[in-house]
Amino acid sequence: MADLKQESRALIAAAVNLLKNTKNADSPDISAESVTAEVPPNPEMGDVGFPMFPFARVLRIAPPVIAQEVAKLLNEDASFKEKASKVGSFAAVGPYVNVKLEKGDIVRTTLEAVLAQKQSYGAFDETGKKPLNGRRVMIEFSSPNTNKPLHLGHLRNDALGESVSRILKAAGAEVYKVNIINNRGVHICKSMRAYQLFHEGQTPEKLGVKSDRFVGDCYVEFEKYRKENGEKAEAEAQNMLVEWEKGNPEIHKLWKQMNEWAVNGIMQTYKRTGVSFDKFYYESETYLKGKELIQQGLEKGLFFKAEDGSTRVDVSEVVGKNKDGEDQQKVLLRKDGTSVYITQDIGTAVSRHDDWSFNQLVYVVGNEQNYHFKVLFYILKKLGFEWANQLFHLSYGMVNLPEGKMKSREGTVVDADDLINQLRDGALEEIASKGREEAVGSPEEVAEKIALGALHYFLLQATPAKDMMFNPKESLSFNGNTGPYLQYMGARICSILRKAEEAGVKAADNVDFSLLSHPAEWALVKALGEYPATLKKAAEKLDPSEIAALLYEIAKLFSSFYHDCSILGIDNSALTSARLALVRCVKTVLENGMNLILVPFLETM
Ligand code: ARG
Repeated sequence: MADLKQESRALIAAAVNLLKNTKNADSPDISAESVTAEVPPNPEMGDVGFPMFPFARVLRIAPPVIAQEVAKLLNEDASFKEKASKVGSFAAVGPYVNVKLEKGDIVRTTLEAVLAQKQSYGAFDETGKKPLNGRRVMIEFSSPNTNKPLHLGHLRNDALGESVSRILKAAGAEVYKVNIINNRGVHICKSMRAYQLFHEGQTPEKLGVKSDRFVGDCYVEFEKYRKENGEKAEAEAQNMLVEWEKGNPEIHKLWKQMNEWAVNGIMQTYKRTGVSFDKFYYESETYLKGKELIQQGLEKGLFFKAEDGSTRVDVSEVVGKNKDGEDQQKVLLRKDGTSVYITQDIGTAVSRHDDWSFNQLVYVVGNEQNYHFKVLFYILKKLGFEWANQLFHLSYGMVNLPEGKMKSREGTVVDADDLINQLRDGALEEIASKGREEAVGSPEEVAEKIALGALHYFLLQATPAKDMMFNPKESLSFNGNTGPYLQYMGARICSILRKAEEAGVKAADNVDFSLLSHPAEWALVKALGEYPATLKKAAEKLDPSEIAALLYEIAKLFSSFYHDCSILGIDNSALTSARLALVRCVKTVLENGMNLILVPFLETM
């Protein structure tokens, strides 16, 4: 589809330019690339629509009249007629010129492209290049604190970060995935204090609990202890932090041990969900660099010492004055000189640029930190780093559960591991209730993949900015806008291809694609042809939901095609071959796309 669409754009541009010259409009020619293309509201009207509004000013003619004249030129003028008729039929519809593309050609070029490019189908745009070639994108995601296991919010973060990374890579960018482990601070000291008080000598191994869970349980216990002991408890944790910054060996030993437990457990969860990183940064190693940079800024007069002894920066320029009309300030170092959350982020950003010079750094972090990143980017600019305008906060919304909001301090948080276990058990039940245990081979493994497909699809089908309600039951449904539905269609396709093989039907070398003229086939091919543009859009917008939506569309269209068009057992082997080729193409696109949104492809289900 890509080629014909591109050609019709070039034709539209040429016709508009001709029109412009006959009207003596004294302005530069418009290029084919600048012609925008839309999808007409219903397929009857055409496959592509070109709005004429953008040319009205230059031509000084109303858009509907331009549309009339452009269509007339393309259909009647000797210099266009022949070429245009090969591309399709052009017609003016109000202020648009719509084109019904030559189907035969599109079906052939689209399917040939899929069959030839296989795993890389979708990566190339209309000009045959990968759209993000030459871009170096560092992407930070997950970035947990080491006082508790990953929870549902992290699962959305991890899915987004990993998926966007894969999308960017597919679109040609060089991608470097990083994680900052926030492993120091008062929150970690709280888990440590509870360990001292209630668990001295115990280990997660001895207790038989996952190690990050053990650290998280300590954190919850501290909270109970704090409720009973108030300020005394707070002071104990704060004191521990001071001791840690001083380098107290005993505190460091405990800190190291508990961090190891937390991090090891978190790594197991990453492995389970298919998330990986090229480099881990640790706050304990970058916060000193942050302190240094703040010191330098202070000397240059960019920051100031407040009356209370803390080091601050004026941020009203970027966040505005407060409601009383006063300047807004951000604390960079506490009065005792200890660092705060943003301190380490300044050091971490600079270390990262030193390590891997990016032309974009994307931070995947929840929208409750919008303010933090605004201020962080402002400070880095102020410090004079010219790459500071290449920083981008990919801010995403909350995930809630039908049961309500989660608080990790109170232990009402939904543990990532528990949630995946729950989904896996649900999938196992489904497999059993369908009597498919034997057919799927290893029910446990398949159930795990269905669970991940359900989870990731649900988290990624919504636009990142939106808050969402994760509904475990709904996500697992084999029917509707879900991951398992895509997996189910994939498995069906595999079963069709197996049956064809069993029946001795081979993939033919010379497929007559013009036989695929049924409306269900045409709709399916058109959707497959949309995949490259969709991938490009997803990469530009950093939004995996674009891919999810198209895959869902393709799965539905495949289902109608399968319903309407028999493949095997028809008395027309050329048609069988053509339809099988189409089925293979659907499989390739589903596989490619599902990989980008972290939904495992299943051969049987
Ligand atoms: N660890 C932080 C938290 O759990 C998130 C870190 C986000 N990334 C960053 N560079 N500040 O809230």
